[in-house]
Amino acid sequence: MGRCRTPVRSVGCMTSSIVLVAGATGDLGSRIVDALLAADPDVRVRALSRSATGLAADRLTTRSDRVSVVSAAYDDHDGLVSALAGVDVVVSVLSGTRSVVVDAQTALLAAAVDAGVPRFVPSDYSADYRAITPGTNRNFELRREFAAALDAAPIRATSVLNGAFTDMLTGQAPMILFDRRTVLYWSSPDQLLDFTTKDDTARVTARVALDPDAPRVVEVAGDRVTARSVADTLSRLTGTRFRTQWAGTASTLSAMARVGRRLSRADDAEPFPAWQGMQYFVSMFSGEAELHHVANDRYGPHDWTTVRDVLAAHLQA
Ligand SMILES: NC(=O)c1ccc[n+]([C@@H]2O[C@H](COP(=O)([O-])OP(=O)(O)OC[C@H]3O[C@@H](n4cnc5c(N)ncnc54)[C@H](OP(=O)(O)O)[C@@H]3O)[C@@H](O)[C@H]2O)c1
Repeated sequence: MGRCRTPVRSVGCMTSSIVLVAGATGDLGSRIVDALLAADPDVRVRALSRSATGLAADRLTTRSDRVSVVSAAYDDHDGLVSALAGVDVVVSVLSGTRSVVVDAQTALLAAAVDAGVPRFVPSDYSADYRAITPGTNRNFELRREFAAALDAAPIRATSVLNGAFTDMLTGQAPMILFDRRTVLYWSSPDQLLDFTTKDDTARVTARVALDPDAPRVVEVAGDRVTARSVADTLSRLTGTRFRTQWAGTASTLSAMARVGRRLSRADDAEPFPAWQGMQYFVSMFSGEAELHHVANDRYGPHDWTTVRDVLAAHLQA
């Protein structure tokens, strides 16, 4: 790591570093690049992409002259090792199923070790996948499998666990039926659910990348709500009553997801098929993936975007 140039309260000292972001062309990855540039005026970001040309890569380099794009295929070990030369920390933001989360990340990890990179942040950005019941959440189990390889490697690792992206509540996660003024729940309307926006997750990840003393896991939650509190929030925001509705137990949802997975034609290549969405709700509403060591103040005070903020913006749009 370089010398300390930017003293920051609560972190002590941020050092000038080269951060390699794998998957920087993606949704969360590009937000992490922005957050890194904002967090440290000296940081240099190297974006690793399978393709150094194209709109997404161009957009990255036009952000700042502190951003460069390198290209390597994940099955090209030597190419990856040279892309990683001189890097202080790898931030993986890759997205996919086994071929990416386990295979591509394992290749990236091996190259990082061979290139002498001191630290690695895996592409987790999720609820706490560590103790979920086997067979209940494919994507979480892939993370757990890669985490075992990461823990066995001679490199320091930090995972960012942030619950679900709050942004999903108004899109991909069908928990709120706006037109029916209903909030669905499984098992209990009072189960705590952790949410963090993509931008807040990106901010924390940038801080983690710049923090050589970051622990193995940093847990944050921009907001912690229940189905009941979400319904109350929506009732207050709209002036009409939103009710909660029992949609079954987490176990029946798990059984439905298993059937959906068996019938799915996309099989295991698709990262977010409908049955995988059900599995996220199983992990959340069973309480198995709840965060228990939230440390929102680790990197100083921050105005976290709440579930209410996201719902209010959605209703005004
Ligand atoms: N907690 C939540 O609610 C939540 C929700 C959504 C996503 N996430 C997680 O956030 C992370 C980032 O997700 P995202 O939506 O930002 O991802 P994304 O935009 O879909 O893609 C990320 C990057 O992954 C790389 N990639 C895609 N397919 C690949 C392949 N076959 N091999 C190697 N690299 C590949 C691409 O980079 P190049 O093409 O440049 O190589 C891409 O830009 C993932 O871990 C995802 O699971 C969490």
